[in-house]
Amino acid sequence: MLTKILSFFLTIISFISFNPLSNYDYYDKLGDEDYEGFKDVYAEYFDIGAAVGGWHCRSEKISEYILKNYSSLTAENAFKQAVLNPAEGVWNFTEADTIADFCRQNGLKLRGHCLVWGYLGSWMTRDSEGNLVSKDVLLQRMHDYINVVVTRYKDIVRVWDVVNEPFGYDKRDGAFKQNDFLTICGEEYITKAFEFAHEADPTAVLCLNETTVLKNQKKQNYLLKYIEKWVNEGVPVHAVGIQSHWNLFVLNESPRRLQKVIDKLYKIGVDIQITECDMRIDAIPSDIFDEVPRNTELLQSKKMSQMFEVLRKNADKISSVTFWGISDNRPQKTEDGETYYRHELLFDRDYMPKNAYYAVCDF
Ligand code: XIL
Repeated sequence: MLTKILSFFLTIISFISFNPLSNYDYYDKLGDEDYEGFKDVYAEYFDIGAAVGGWHCRSEKISEYILKNYSSLTAENAFKQAVLNPAEGVWNFTEADTIADFCRQNGLKLRGHCLVWGYLGSWMTRDSEGNLVSKDVLLQRMHDYINVVVTRYKDIVRVWDVVNEPFGYDKRDGAFKQNDFLTICGEEYITKAFEFAHEADPTAVLCLNETTVLKNQKKQNYLLKYIEKWVNEGVPVHAVGIQSHWNLFVLNESPRRLQKVIDKLYKIGVDIQITECDMRIDAIPSDIFDEVPRNTELLQSKKMSQMFEVLRKNADKISSVTFWGISDNRPQKTEDGETYYRHELLFDRDYMPKNAYYAVCDF
């Protein structure tokens, strides 16, 4: 309900502005099977990627859609340590191999996501009695894990998210988000992970991937401070991933703030990648829609289009823009077990371009 009320007011404001919502209406184009593929529209700017599961690559219809629209893929979950190596000595490469082979066979790039994600917890940090291991043990385990995974996909994964979401922002956490890796090694769990990845593949681009970078200025400040420090110290951090799970109604997720953070990262001298782009339209999570109200859809189209205008302007600083999913066909469950959809991507549940797709591709 709140989404509807806010959308209503934003629509009224937009109508009396210089750039009314009607400028983002592409309803005449919907349903056209011969639309131009996303990666081709953006060929001169940056790679367009998406997060997938192995099942996407096994489906003929979906692979066709992927090949039309994307030049790069990442695995939504298949390359995470909890999947690849859920317990000491247990390895599970099937899904990751499916995605890697699909990329090899079809000439797609592949971003590796992600080597270390402390927040999720890991067998690596604990002994058989459940106690924290020593720093030496943890670093050795990280070293060996990173070496196996990076080496296995060396031919196809040219960019790795080495550490995922390490930064904090509130009083409890300080600069780094609390987790067992941090308790055991301090800041070094991050820098060592980069060193191990670099040792395993000295030519790979190594990326630190972070969430809520626009929304959360405190976190952004920590990120900028430490990336600069590590680059100056010679830690092999080559790129920063700005996840970009945006929301239509979050004011801090604005074109201006996106431009600012790009400028700041560029000054530090790292490549910038947009790694997990989507845009939710719910003002509060309990706002669920079977069908998105038309004005809300136009508002999403407008904001996405404005964000992409910034990305295009900075194409020399950005190497890839990856979406977190290939279409709105991402069922979620309410607490009562009901299925709903978040309508957060540029393609609908039938893998057809939405109004927002045309808005982002019209330049
Ligand atoms: C999410 C996946 O989309 C879910 O399927 C999974 O259950 C949890 O992880 N930031 C990240 C991604 O870096 O790996 C997360 O992906 C979304 C937030």
